[in-house]
Amino acid sequence: MDCKSRSSTCIAPINIAVIKYWGKSDEEQIIPLNDSISITLDTDYMFTKTTATISPEFTQDSIVLNNEQGSGDGVRFQNCLSEVRKLAASSKHASTVEKSTWKVAIVSENNFPTKAGLASSASGYACLVFTLAQLYELESHQSELSALARRGSGSACRSLFGGFVRWFHDSQPCIARPIAEAEHWPELRCLVAVVSNTSKSVGSTEGMRRSAETSKLLEHRVKNVVRDRIEDIKMAILEKNFVKFAEITMRDSNQFHAICLDTYPPLFYMNSTSQAIIQLVHRYNQIRQSVKVAYTFDAGPNAVLFLEQAEISRFASVFYSVFGSTPHDQFFRGKVPDLVDPTEDVTSLVPEKALKGQVQYTIVCHVGQGPKNIDPTG
Ligand code: PMV
Repeated sequence: MDCKSRSSTCIAPINIAVIKYWGKSDEEQIIPLNDSISITLDTDYMFTKTTATISPEFTQDSIVLNNEQGSGDGVRFQNCLSEVRKLAASSKHASTVEKSTWKVAIVSENNFPTKAGLASSASGYACLVFTLAQLYELESHQSELSALARRGSGSACRSLFGGFVRWFHDSQPCIARPIAEAEHWPELRCLVAVVSNTSKSVGSTEGMRRSAETSKLLEHRVKNVVRDRIEDIKMAILEKNFVKFAEITMRDSNQFHAICLDTYPPLFYMNSTSQAIIQLVHRYNQIRQSVKVAYTFDAGPNAVLFLEQAEISRFASVFYSVFGSTPHDQFFRGKVPDLVDPTEDVTSLVPEKALKGQVQYTIVCHVGQGPKNIDPTG
């Protein structure tokens, strides 16, 4: 490669919405119908890693995604790229202005199922924008980058920040901002249960369009539900009130999937294993006589469960006894929990149906930080 080329490599986290974004008021600009709130997960196990290289020798933009040659002409990819280039072109440094005219080569990979409701586009576009900003040495504020990542995938604007993040539908520009840092709730844990790693049947862009056009329930949600829920869950997070946080999270996931059913023709993202997980969580909470575990599902069958550290061993043991069919250090990845013998009341939770093997594996994580540069000199 020529001596003028420059590279940068960064990683970015996934985020899981506890108040969902579903539906846009402006498709081109990707402006959501309502605010959403998400939690950024640590990058110990799940992340997107992107290397961006610029060179005056390149004749076109290119992208390799998970080892497959993608199209450098993709609209969303080009939207992000051209917005970052605009910033670079307005830099006070002549070398950055010059580099903004060079073509770019992107190599990006996710170490978790792509397009299966595990927020791969969120970490992907957040990583793309962050890596380019590092490469051009932009002095932009993270919120400016959040607005750029939004042009790739709406939820990506939340992955520019660690901790607990709110995306505002009516801010100018339309950006996300943190409501609490990653360290705020150190006891909070997250179990990502991978039910399926196949791609979803209807992508979120098409699904949202269909819901916005046909679902009266979505209209009701936007008008009458989300505003209060956002305030309530924000308060629950700030107060570290798990019971309140958990109930709002589950109700919001359920409403999102109710909207999917209210969409015409309907959208089916959860499957029978997802439903079994929901049932198990409610039965578990009932037996524990308090809300100890919460679930949420995005546009796919995988479950994301929230609980506090003190409950991990007990719940993980139950979850494993119901769904696990591989040795426990293969079933749990990330921060592998110690298992205990499920107590009698807990064994009675096991639904009748044979569910062993229906969850392929589970990733255990905590609340994490935003993107970071991993260049040796970064
Ligand atoms: O940003 P998109 O187009 O991948 O849509 C994300 C939609 C949900 O994951 C279902 C909800 C959310 O707020 O992340």
